[in-house]
Amino acid sequence: VTQRVALIGAGDWARTALAPAVAELPDAQIVACVDPDRARARVLAEAFRVRRTFGSVAELASSGTPVDVAVISTPDRHHADAIEAAFALGAAVYCEKPLASSWAEARRLVQLAAAHPRPAAVGFTFHYSAAVQQLKADLVGGVLGRPWLIETQERNSQFHPTSGRPMTWKGDPAHAPGGALVEYGALGTLAAGWVLAGGFPGIRIVVHGSSGTGEVVLDDARPVAETYRRYDLSGRVVDARDVDPVPRHEYARRQLADLLAVSAGRRPEFVDTLPTLADGAAVQALLDRALEIGSPPHRSE
Ligand SMILES: NC(=O)c1ccc[n+]([C@@H]2O[C@H](COP(=O)([O-])OP(=O)(O)OC[C@H]3O[C@@H](n4cnc5c(N)ncnc54)[C@H](O)[C@@H]3O)[C@@H](O)[C@H]2O)c1
Repeated sequence: VTQRVALIGAGDWARTALAPAVAELPDAQIVACVDPDRARARVLAEAFRVRRTFGSVAELASSGTPVDVAVISTPDRHHADAIEAAFALGAAVYCEKPLASSWAEARRLVQLAAAHPRPAAVGFTFHYSAAVQQLKADLVGGVLGRPWLIETQERNSQFHPTSGRPMTWKGDPAHAPGGALVEYGALGTLAAGWVLAGGFPGIRIVVHGSSGTGEVVLDDARPVAETYRRYDLSGRVVDARDVDPVPRHEYARRQLADLLAVSAGRRPEFVDTLPTLADGAAVQALLDRALEIGSPPHRSE
């Protein structure tokens, strides 16, 4: 059965990752593009042969267009409203990270999701990297023993304020409260227990366990985009995997395929992976706490 998808937000990530991802799913069809910037919605719709465009989710709702799955990639501060509107449509939801702008808001969304008959997921797309999956499998399978230290490291050039001001809304507290910490947050990584609230990678995750160490490096600037290394206690490499670069939309495609499977009552391909709204809220709780302890310098409120 084909599931009808509405893209809410027709910006950069929708154009380069989410729309191409949905277009590759055999059981999905994009039926609407929604963006207050109507020209942008039309451009995306033309590129992916979508028949209908709307300036808001309210407009989409009043059109009566049936929607099975809402894929949300608006700026962060609109995520909560878009999710609520998508629930009102009766749709399953894929919402880009971060789930919300505060823990209170995130918790409210989790409660709404619990009462909603269809699944809802947060776009923590790096869960779907092969190297990250291997690290998780080794951890869960006990190969690394008992973990005692996790190191994570991230860098993302889009947050470097070269001109002394935010480069995009992602560094502007009015649109992304908390700036890079929330938008891309390493803490989110840890809280997800999984690693990685997406973006464009330079990412290193090392899990030190009582039986060995597992290390993931995702780096799009190197010829090998994903590596996984497992070391024994003497530091010798005992497992080495190099994964060729995947297209920009591939992790999102895997996550959306899993969401559609669950929505249709099928088993997802990736076991125990699909990040829920509760996972997104747990990340938010930690980020809120981190912001309380030390506000980033650009934060004005
Ligand atoms: N998972 C990842 O790896 C990843 C990567 C990049 C971006 N993202 C996330 O995707 C989201 C969008 O980022 P982007 O880079 O595409 O930003 P963008 O600014 O390029 O696009 C956002 C779009 O949303 C539209 N919009 C604003 N308010 C709206 C509303 N109420 N309803 C519908 N559309 C609305 C804007 O007009 C714009 O076209 C962010 O939440 C970001 O964190 C995730």
